[in-house]
Amino acid sequence: MIIFAHMKELIFATNNKHKLMEVSEMLKSVINIQSLSEAGLSGDIPETADTLEGNALQKAQWVYERTGKDCFADDTGLEVEALDGRPGVYSARYAGEHCSFDDNINKMLDEMEGKTNRRACFRTVICLIEGGKPRYFEGRVDGVILTERYGKEGFGYDPIFMPDRFAVSFAEMPLEVKNHISHRGRAVAKLVDYLKRL
Ligand code: IMP
Repeated sequence: MIIFAHMKELIFATNNKHKLMEVSEMLKSVINIQSLSEAGLSGDIPETADTLEGNALQKAQWVYERTGKDCFADDTGLEVEALDGRPGVYSARYAGEHCSFDDNINKMLDEMEGKTNRRACFRTVICLIEGGKPRYFEGRVDGVILTERYGKEGFGYDPIFMPDRFAVSFAEMPLEVKNHISHRGRAVAKLVDYLKRL
């Protein structure tokens, strides 16, 4: 049964293999996701905006300009209350240009040392470019920054983020559980809803 006859394929503008896997898993019954390499693209996608929306648009536009095909990009930030919303849109480069996930976690644990308010949220904005027109979908998950690393799954800040109503970090959860409740999972769910109504 072909449900989305005019939109069977979408290019996902990411070079992050973990994200590609997570999102492909969530969309697999709805749409066929093409990676950048499958779309014949390579290189670093620019993300120089100062908002999640701006970066998501910039990344999706980069693909659209090169392929003319429907595509989407996401941008995520970890917003920590005690740090006035930082690192936010700068979450990937929190510990400096070209830093590792580990460097970012170390910096976060240092900055959060002794802080009693450990509330934080992950926020994802997806920009879908469909027929040349951008459309946005947002997902958010609230939780706390832990005082040390727990678990080995996932990526990024997963070992030190515990979502509300759970007693484990994102890095201790099976991927299906994380996908169900995560910022990106919720944004993708809205994208799926939209695609289903087309
Ligand atoms: P991006 O915009 O999706 O590339 O996310 C920016 C940064 O936020 C990443 O480099 C990660 O450090 C972090 N991040 C994004 N999504 C997640 C997640 O699901 N878990 C943990 N960290 C994440």
